[in-house]
Amino acid sequence: MKKHKIGLIGTGMRAMFLVNEILKRDDLEIVAVSDINQESMDMLCSRYDKYWDQYLDYKELLKREDIEGVIILSPDYAHEEQAIAAFDAGKHVYLEKPIAVTIEGGKRVIQKRDESGKTLLIGFVLRYNKLFAKMKEIVETGVIGELKTGWVLHSVGAGSDWYFHDWHGTMANTGGLLLQKGSHDFDIINWVADSKVKRLAAFGSRDFFGGDKPNDLVCQECEERNTCTEGIRESHIQWKRPDGKSTGVHYNCWRNQCAFREEIDVLDNHQVLLEYENGVKVCYVECHYTPDDNREYIFIGTKGKLKLDDAKDKLTIEIRNSMYDRKEEIVYSNLQSSEGHGGGDKNILDDFVYALNTGKQPNAGGEAGFEAIQVGLLAHKAIKEGEIIRL
Ligand SMILES: NC(=O)c1ccc[n+]([C@@H]2O[C@H](COP(=O)([O-])OP(=O)(O)OC[C@H]3O[C@@H](n4cnc5c(N)ncnc54)[C@H](O)[C@@H]3O)[C@@H](O)[C@H]2O)c1
Repeated sequence: MKKHKIGLIGTGMRAMFLVNEILKRDDLEIVAVSDINQESMDMLCSRYDKYWDQYLDYKELLKREDIEGVIILSPDYAHEEQAIAAFDAGKHVYLEKPIAVTIEGGKRVIQKRDESGKTLLIGFVLRYNKLFAKMKEIVETGVIGELKTGWVLHSVGAGSDWYFHDWHGTMANTGGLLLQKGSHDFDIINWVADSKVKRLAAFGSRDFFGGDKPNDLVCQECEERNTCTEGIRESHIQWKRPDGKSTGVHYNCWRNQCAFREEIDVLDNHQVLLEYENGVKVCYVECHYTPDDNREYIFIGTKGKLKLDDAKDKLTIEIRNSMYDRKEEIVYSNLQSSEGHGGGDKNILDDFVYALNTGKQPNAGGEAGFEAIQVGLLAHKAIKEGEIIRL
């Protein structure tokens, strides 16, 4: 088995999750990491007792000829530039979502991929999670008849934990949370609908986060810290390494800005209506202040209805056999593993290795990445302009 040498660009929270999976494999070897923050690189390396080469400038990492592929785990606004530079340097790329924060940026990344002849994998881990893959298979094989409509509720109960205490809170950094978070779901909806969006309408608002607190206020220095519902109180979280050892992670170095600060301009509540070229219509709701943290999907076809509940790890299919027999029920459960993203992190790395071995484009490729951001960006435009958008 070939061991592919890879480099990581961005050594924050996502890197920590993925490195845990990479270190379990015999076919990938991290040889170098890059981050603009030395402390971040030191923490990642020391957490795993590794002495990978470190670069403050990712372009130096890209110059290394022994590196075949890179995994880009930096903030969203850096993705386009770094993916293009990686293709220019002749590397295969696993790029975290979103592919870019503008439509033109997404097109430029795909164009560079094509010019370089290299592969591009987008971090759509849900495609690689068995629960979501089963949903796709059920629809594709016609179990619920011809797909007609659907409804998706994404309750981002960990909203402030992940999106409002750091760089994720501004439109300039992310293109909006419908890209940053919603692109996962738009990709799954596009994939299951098996068509392209023709028209969309959207509503949205910021109902809970943001406000008039100073931009430089951090939880540790705030006098409301112990009463604030969003206050970060823990300074460390425990993290289990692949070798079973537990390691403390200095959590707050990344996410400790006030969730009610002035600069926050992303929305925390969105409703998007999608109409596809093949006639399928789907409603997507994404809310960041729910008490629960879950994805619920419903797809309805001419023969039946499918429900996916991510938190319960359960798929239910009801079949409409006749006027008198409308509820034959089929249930699938426990499809996800306890590993990162329900097993999605391991499986997406399998596809990265497939791309490295064969030079063929992976399942979640650049086009999927582009179509997902296109929906997110146009939905934000529809919210702003109050118009229905035709693609
Ligand atoms: N696929 C998934 O399910 C999933 C889950 C979480 C995050 N992500 C993606 O991973 C990316 C990183 O998210 P995160 O939660 O780890 O963020 P983070 O803030 O925890 O880490 C980002 C790291 O990148 C570094 N960085 C900033 N600018 C850089 C640059 N120009 N070059 C190199 N490094 C730079 C920061 O210093 C930090 O160490 C985001 O794009 C996010 O969308 C994907």
